Amino acid sequence: MTNKKILLSGVKPTGRPHIGNYFGAMKQFVDLQDEYEARVFIADYHAITTVQNAEELSRSTMDVALDYLAIGVDPSKTLLFKQSDVPEVCELGWIFNCITTMPYLMRAHAYKDAEAKNKEINVGLFDYPILMAADILIQDADAVPVGQDQKQHVEYARDIAEKFNRVFGDTFKLPNPYILEHVKIIPGTDGQKMSKSHGNTIPLFATDEEIKKAVMGIPTNSQGVDEPKNPELDHVFALHKHFADKDEIAEIERRYREGGMGYKESKDILISNITRFIAPLREKRKEFEKDEESVKKMLKENGAKAREIAITKMSQIKRSVGL
Ligand code: TYM
Repeated sequence: MTNKKILLSGVKPTGRPHIGNYFGAMKQFVDLQDEYEARVFIADYHAITTVQNAEELSRSTMDVALDYLAIGVDPSKTLLFKQSDVPEVCELGWIFNCITTMPYLMRAHAYKDAEAKNKEINVGLFDYPILMAADILIQDADAVPVGQDQKQHVEYARDIAEKFNRVFGDTFKLPNPYILEHVKIIPGTDGQKMSKSHGNTIPLFATDEEIKKAVMGIPTNSQGVDEPKNPELDHVFALHKHFADKDEIAEIERRYREGGMGYKESKDILISNITRFIAPLREKRKEFEKDEESVKKMLKENGAKAREIAITKMSQIKRSVGL
């Protein structure tokens, strides 16, 4: 046991993570793993709200584990585990279901978006915030690093903790979202929030070809090379902010505003910067890919540790409820 505050977060194994997932959340897992007692997981129970194919789910789960390792999540510092190795989160989810009202869950952005798009909404998707609250509260998390789109979910976890404490007595800590202003919404290649469902992503481990294709596909206006341009209105420039250093950004901005920087040149610079950033991550991932067996073993061992923590918390929770 340490006096460090507890950090907890997760990523869903639903296809390849993109640079929005990385800058918005995953990078913080790495940057904060010394300062916090870090617990990071693969949200495979959450993934089955959409991924309903055994082979695909288990492949994506291993892939997210490899992604975490490749970006520098260090299992000697971070408790890295699979959500389903802690089935107590489902048990706690049930208890939370019983103190949460339907209208409250119906106000969740993710639910409202799905409804607005006339999607078929399974009960798991509707209940998503409850399971997420269980993930967070069963681990006594203080800080939950996420992107802006998950802020409401962390607030739900906080509300649910308060409600539980009010009904059953003081049992849970109140968690806080940890959101960095400059990366809270990473834009995709079309300027909207980068998201797998928008088809506007740049995968975190993209090949050189994929990077080129994604950047070349960014829509730009018809202004010629010499015309002055407003960088704030350009989707290419929005991405420069995350891949160029300060001086280079200032220089690109100056040339946009004065005229003389065409979109082709701007895209070439972006391709070269993204490639320089991603190439070493890809190399590191290849190293871990060689030995999936030890990754599985690590997940199993860590899963057992995370479960032990959850079981201890669960016995306190059950006492509070009278189970
Ligand atoms: P997931 O896998 O959908 O997203 C992982 C993280 O990436 C962030 N993110 C972004 N950040 C900035 N800009 C973007 N364009 C962008 N797109 C995605 C998300 O905000 C998220 O932090 N529900 C979680 C998984 C989860 C979880 C938890 C997280 C389940 N239980 C408990 C924290 C604590 C999710 O959305 O994952």
